[in-house]
Amino acid sequence: MEKKNKTLVAASLLAADFSQLGKDIGRVEQAGADWLHYDVMDGTFVPNISFGKVVLDSIKGIITKPVDVHLMIDDPARYIKDFAVKGVGSVTVHHESAPDIRPALKAIRAAGCLAGVSVKPKTPVSVVEPYIDLVDMILIMTVEPGFGGQSFMTDMLDKIAAARALADSTGRNIHIEVDGGINDKTAALVKAHGADVLVSGSYLFKAKDPAAAVSLLKA
Ligand code: DX5
Ligand code: ZN
Repeated sequence: MEKKNKTLVAASLLAADFSQLGKDIGRVEQAGADWLHYDVMDGTFVPNISFGKVVLDSIKGIITKPVDVHLMIDDPARYIKDFAVKGVGSVTVHHESAPDIRPALKAIRAAGCLAGVSVKPKTPVSVVEPYIDLVDMILIMTVEPGFGGQSFMTDMLDKIAAARALADSTGRNIHIEVDGGINDKTAALVKAHGADVLVSGSYLFKAKDPAAAVSLLKA
């Protein structure tokens, strides 16, 4: 019998109130979030600019959960050394962000983090096949990357299932993460299609009872 991973919830800090970031981090950690998802955007790979190494360095001292870095930047190999650091459990780069993403994936693993690769909605998951041996996590974008608060793209469900099939074909324990529009309703759908790491921004940070929200995502 195949062993199924338990569902992990990664709270996306993009949805936090940055005037009280430390407080918001404590709130989602206490609520039971397993990872803190950290979206780095450069204004080129995606049409938005978020935050980078400076903010990560300043929260490192207060976080108790692994940071899950999501690099939405061009040529990410240049910046792995800034983000694959103590306190960071995983770093994900985009397949579309460099002609060859392998050096970035190798650098992430060499720094002791899980190496993730993400595909935008229009990119098929089959592009990952040639270098799946370098991958510990596949991140399926369920919105166009760049902004929080968008609606879940239901037509990504088949891609989640394809990613799960590819992951399982290796015989290794590869995470399937989903990012964008995850709430209590869409969580059930993505889990049924094989996702085991659920990124949640607006749903979790806007919740009146974040612990209940985390439980609903995992239920
Ligand atoms: C979007 C980011 C997401 C975003 C998700 O490009 O990668 O992590 O914060 O936000 P919600 O959960 O609000 O869709
Ligand atoms: Zn993200």
